[in-house]
Amino acid sequence: MTTLAIYSNKGGVGKTAAAVNLSYLAAQTGAKTLICDLDPQSSATYYFRVKPKLKSGAKGFIKGGKQINKSIKGTDYENLDLLPADFTLRNLDAAFDKLKRPKERLGKIIKPFKAEYDLIIFDCPVTISTLAENIFNASEFILVPLIPTTLSVRTHRQLLSFCRKNKYDTSKIYAFFSMVDRRKKMHKELMAMMLKEFNGVLRSLIPYLSQIERMGIDREPVAASAPGSVASKAYQNLWAKFQEATLANPSI
Ligand SMILES: Nc1ncnc2c1ncn2[C@@H]1O[C@H](COP(=O)(O)OP(=O)(O)OP(=O)(O)O)[C@@H](O)[C@H]1O
Ligand SMILES: [Mg+2]
Repeated sequence: MTTLAIYSNKGGVGKTAAAVNLSYLAAQTGAKTLICDLDPQSSATYYFRVKPKLKSGAKGFIKGGKQINKSIKGTDYENLDLLPADFTLRNLDAAFDKLKRPKERLGKIIKPFKAEYDLIIFDCPVTISTLAENIFNASEFILVPLIPTTLSVRTHRQLLSFCRKNKYDTSKIYAFFSMVDRRKKMHKELMAMMLKEFNGVLRSLIPYLSQIERMGIDREPVAASAPGSVASKAYQNLWAKFQEATLANPSI
């Protein structure tokens, strides 16, 4: 089983849009997939038309085992299940901090799913605290959407420096360009610079497209509602590039 976190310490960069589409595309190829919504905003849950409700809230989530099994829902798509989020997850950091080995809790919670799923995708909230470290520990790969702006470059440097300082393996961090406007000279220049500066940046980009914004209205992955669209092709290309880069993982 592979675990992949769609993560960034920046908000509104396209994490959820990517998590929703990539989980759908992986499931389409036959991989038994679980998308795990870790964000109290529960946007991924909303996109899949599932009620944002965890059995016994964050407490049940932390307990894991049967409590979590009861929360998992099927989606409208074959091979794709969802662990919904609800607003109680806002306390996840504080709850982890009260426990022993607070940074290894998420890994423990998902361990029983390893037998059942080929792939678990985490849709992460903005965090660089205990929850983030749980995510780094529990994930085999971390995929970061990068909008080609100077602030994104800064945030990515911060992430890499945090990971190095805290002895997280930075070679599992991949990135892709998100919300790109190819007409903007600055976007082009910054993409070239990021490809030079950072390892693991995939040669794949998701353009800024109103079709992707529409996912909020359609409540479906754009890869499902408009499979031949530019947006869908961009996510297909991203998934292909991610798989190429992580070829050691035939399971996905
Ligand atoms: N490539 C894109 N083109 C246009 N709009 C996009 C694109 N990707 C995402 N969006 C829109 O931008 C907003 C933020 O995207 P999304 O929710 O995926 O980001 P996020 O990083 O998950 O945000 P948060 O930090 O709040 O969880 C949403 O309204 C979404 O529909
Ligand atoms: Mg999100």
